[in-house]
Amino acid sequence: MVVPEVYKSQYSPMAKSNARNHKSSFSCLNDGFVYLGGSLLAFLLVWSFWSYVGLSFTHNLEPTAAGNLTSNVSSDSTQCLHGEPAVNLGYDPPEPTFYDDPELRYSVEETVKNWDEKRKEWLKHHPTFAAGARDRVVMVTGSQPTPCKNPIGDHLLLRSFKNKVDYCRIHGIDIFYNNVLLHPKMRSFWAKLPVVKAAMLAHPEAEWIWWVDSDALITDMEYKLPLRRYDYKSHNVVVHGWANLIYEEKSWTSLNAGVFLIRNCQWSMDFMHTWANMGPMSPDYPKWGEIQRSLFKDKLFPESDDQSALIYLIHQDKTLTDKIYLEGEYYLEGYWVDILPTLDNITERYSEMEREDGKLRRRHGEKVSEQYGAFRERNLRGWGNGKGSYRRPFITHFTGCQPCSGDHHQMYGGESCWNGMIKALNFADNQVLRKYGFVHPDLLDSNTVTETPFDFPDEGPW
Ligand SMILES: *[C@@H]1O[C@H](CO)[C@@H](O)[C@H](O)[C@H]1NC(C)=O
Ligand SMILES: *[C@@H]1O[C@H](CO)[C@@H](O)[C@H](O)[C@H]1NC(C)=O
Ligand SMILES: *[C@@H]1O[C@H](CO)[C@@H](O)[C@H](O)[C@H]1NC(C)=O
Repeated sequence: MVVPEVYKSQYSPMAKSNARNHKSSFSCLNDGFVYLGGSLLAFLLVWSFWSYVGLSFTHNLEPTAAGNLTSNVSSDSTQCLHGEPAVNLGYDPPEPTFYDDPELRYSVEETVKNWDEKRKEWLKHHPTFAAGARDRVVMVTGSQPTPCKNPIGDHLLLRSFKNKVDYCRIHGIDIFYNNVLLHPKMRSFWAKLPVVKAAMLAHPEAEWIWWVDSDALITDMEYKLPLRRYDYKSHNVVVHGWANLIYEEKSWTSLNAGVFLIRNCQWSMDFMHTWANMGPMSPDYPKWGEIQRSLFKDKLFPESDDQSALIYLIHQDKTLTDKIYLEGEYYLEGYWVDILPTLDNITERYSEMEREDGKLRRRHGEKVSEQYGAFRERNLRGWGNGKGSYRRPFITHFTGCQPCSGDHHQMYGGESCWNGMIKALNFADNQVLRKYGFVHPDLLDSNTVTETPFDFPDEGPW
């Protein structure tokens, strides 16, 4: 998105994640819920059955010795995987699942019916995946298939990808980087929807697909997504936004569609279909552009875009907020222009906190970083969140910078975009490098690291 966001909401201290909800581990959390938003969103739920006649399973799907070994080893090592039960990567039984249905299409143009049942069935056949399904997340991100026009563009994309890989490794999240257009008409900001849909089908083991734009950087590597918060009232989409801006101001920046979580369930399949049908694959695409512009007076360009489309849907049907959580209690994504000037102070505050608390300074294996994040939460109580807070912003989004093409918004100088990204990348990298014993003393100098002394940052100017 090209235009900066407006931050008007009041941030409250972060809600604690809620662990009281004990629904079944992989349910869609929309049981009995059928969303019919007038004729626009009407869809038919049809039970589809298909025949497996003619399918033969020539490949050997029996568990292998390696599979046996894996399950033995894993039963001993669950401790190391902090609660995530080990999964069997070498096992796909012959019983047919939705994958064997010749009618099932990955294309965003087609709807998938009975997805909840299909997913449940798959999980039933893959019990080692079923166990941890409720909290499993796949991050999906990507960039264009060709080299960047901006000379520094590919470097920035690589580092942005590294940043996400680092986060995912620390938190046990899988990541899919896509760099091909999956639907020829769904270009630019619309390209994410076909990828998200395909990822839902490719990852029945995951409860959440987490889309993150390539220009959004994770700047708090310790922060763990508060997923239980969204289970509590059965939300299926989580996006950073503000209800008052949607309903009162009718601004096309009242939420940001560059980062969102979507639950892997039937409701989401149907919602994605409705959403995608406001994009260029639809014959009504020009009409949607006009409708969006008439509603959102601050929208600057005529084409229908994914963000305006999402806001439009929520604006037209307020009950959608029962399913779409507008997150404002932490930076699910935050505007880089607000965040960048605060990074030095935040670094200083965190160092101070660590000088005062030996537990936070203790060296540890990278795999157990989440525990140190949890320790730190106690020290962060009362720090507030969002603008003006000294808490590390979770995601810093370089909206309007267009690092790959270099066609940044004229409101920003290119240098401020690229240097800003480098600074945010090194800010994040310092949180990772530390586990490897090093630190960048200067956030604008990517080349230089120094070895951290024992008990860092107890001594020294950092
Ligand atoms: C794997 O384990 C199962 C049961 O535990 C056993 O029946 C099978 O023979 C084993 N397979 C191999 C290749 O060892
Ligand atoms: C794995 O466990 C099975 C019983 O569950 C046992 O028979 C087998 O010997 C074990 N394999 C290894 C490599 O420990
Ligand atoms: C950083 O902290 C100093 C001292 O507390 C303060 O004067 C300054 O305004 C802060 N800068 C920003 C950008 O918040």
